[in-house]
Amino acid sequence: MKLADCVAEVEQQLQRAKLYFGHGTDNARDEAAWLVMAASGIDVGTFDGDWTQELSVQQLAETEKLVLERTRSRQPLAYILNSAWFAETEFYIDERAIVPRSHIGEWIPECFEPWLDPSGVQNVLDLCTGGGCIAVALALVLNRARFDAVDISTDALAVAAINARRHAVSDRIRLIQSDLFTALPGRRYDLILCNPPYVTDQLIDELPLEYSHEPEIAFSGGVDGLTIIRQVLAESRAHLTQRGLLVVEAGSAALAVENAWARVPFTWLMSANGESVVFVLSADELDTYGQSFV
Ligand SMILES: C[S@@+](CC[C@H](N)C(=O)[O-])C[C@H]1O[C@@H](n2cnc3c(N)ncnc32)[C@H](O)[C@@H]1O
Repeated sequence: MKLADCVAEVEQQLQRAKLYFGHGTDNARDEAAWLVMAASGIDVGTFDGDWTQELSVQQLAETEKLVLERTRSRQPLAYILNSAWFAETEFYIDERAIVPRSHIGEWIPECFEPWLDPSGVQNVLDLCTGGGCIAVALALVLNRARFDAVDISTDALAVAAINARRHAVSDRIRLIQSDLFTALPGRRYDLILCNPPYVTDQLIDELPLEYSHEPEIAFSGGVDGLTIIRQVLAESRAHLTQRGLLVVEAGSAALAVENAWARVPFTWLMSANGESVVFVLSADELDTYGQSFV
């Protein structure tokens, strides 16, 4: 069977199984291509585009096995493969940390220009780092900057350590177990990035089965989704340099953010898929509107 035909067949199987696609892909076709290539040992990063190549009996058998595992377990494919792509970089991942998919990754290649001058960035904080994907991907672009990557979960930090080592940036990324800023007294950063938990209690109960394999602490944003975001907004200014920038993904809580702080001129960045769920605020803006957050 040709690669293209196999992908089309697997796409049908995934669709029939009524899976949820939101952990590295957002549709059955892309996930089928990823699955078949992984099962066949075809490197996505160096794929030559030959969709007419014939797959061997063994490649087809591996594909069938993987389809069965994905459909029966409802595990995100990234966990089954221990592999996720984020900001054009491959990361190790397992169930100790959420599968990387933050919209923040879209602005990593440009280092958040024009909201930030990358040449002035020396110290970066990745708050709620999970598996470390944001810190590591940005460290590969800003190759002189130093990073603190913070998470409350030691499990997640163990995954972040694997990724920092894998991409040879361990010497510039300090992994810190902390409840938000608690372990960072007096530290200031030119850039604070944060993809916090922002899912409301009600929404958590409605999430597709795939999410049940991810740590719940990565989602829990409390009754209104804003528990962690509220703290980040209140405490970030004290940890930013004079020309610093705060970048936060608010996800499904974006509207709640707008409603809670209607006076604050959040700049919402538009993602490739048309969603605006990441906001930036400068240190100056936090100076002006800081009182709104306390
Ligand atoms: C949505 S995940 C983001 C992970 C990673 N940055 C990413 O984009 O894939 C949120 C992370 O926040 C962490 N977290 C939850 N509450 C926290 C807290 N109070 N302080 C620090 N980290 C926290 C969770 O353990 C989880 O790893």
